[in-house]
Amino acid sequence: MRRKLAAGNWKMNGTGASLAEIETLMKSHPAPGVDVLICPPATLIGRAAALAEGHVLAIGGQDCHAEASGAHTGDISAAMLKDAGATHVILGHSERRADHDESDGDVRAKCRAALAEGLVAVVCVGETLDEREAANTLDIIGGQLAGSLPDIASAHDLVIAYEPIWAIGTGKVPTTAQIGEVHDFIRTKLEQRYGAGVGRSVRILYGGSVKGSNAAEIFAVSNVDGALVGGASLTAGDFSPIVSALEEA
Ligand code: PGA
Repeated sequence: MRRKLAAGNWKMNGTGASLAEIETLMKSHPAPGVDVLICPPATLIGRAAALAEGHVLAIGGQDCHAEASGAHTGDISAAMLKDAGATHVILGHSERRADHDESDGDVRAKCRAALAEGLVAVVCVGETLDEREAANTLDIIGGQLAGSLPDIASAHDLVIAYEPIWAIGTGKVPTTAQIGEVHDFIRTKLEQRYGAGVGRSVRILYGGSVKGSNAAEIFAVSNVDGALVGGASLTAGDFSPIVSALEEA
């Protein structure tokens, strides 16, 4: 049994005032039937983690450096995230891959660093619209998985997020058949890579324009174990219906 996960990625949004959204979310879901994760900007991780202490809501980072420490101005290590109270970290988001030229190899090195600190790595993969239209989606996803994932992982410390780049922040969502095809493919790849036990236990999230209005339909797709949500995670009012839909799935 895979425990479902509703994850919010605030991206470069939020100041201290936004912590009220986390408070409201915890009040709306005092004992959620699914795992709930919020990844605020790094500046809010410490405060968010303090707020969530004693609640099952988890706090995560949106990136970490591959090295433990050193002369890397502006970067944050996995140990620093952990020290601030994070338990998870998103790695290889398409915006990081695009804005910061992160390669699969970079993502894999970050992943190793995160796992070494005991953080859960939420590794993102996804195709562009051109790649989908050229019928290359599975090749692209297969390549990203092969290059970005660490050789050793356990059921608990790795989560995959399938996020078609053309669906992120656009309001466009793949059909449930398209989501199912990719999620089944990822499941097969995980089983091949890590063996049946771990491969069947790693959670696979869907991300890209998930909202309260489309969540239930997406969560009914096989091998969809939850969602990585951007825009609709910024307020408790938008995120709470997604958590509820996942609890009911
Ligand atoms: P979106 O973003 O929900 O705003 O489309 C998803 C993501 O990038 O994780």
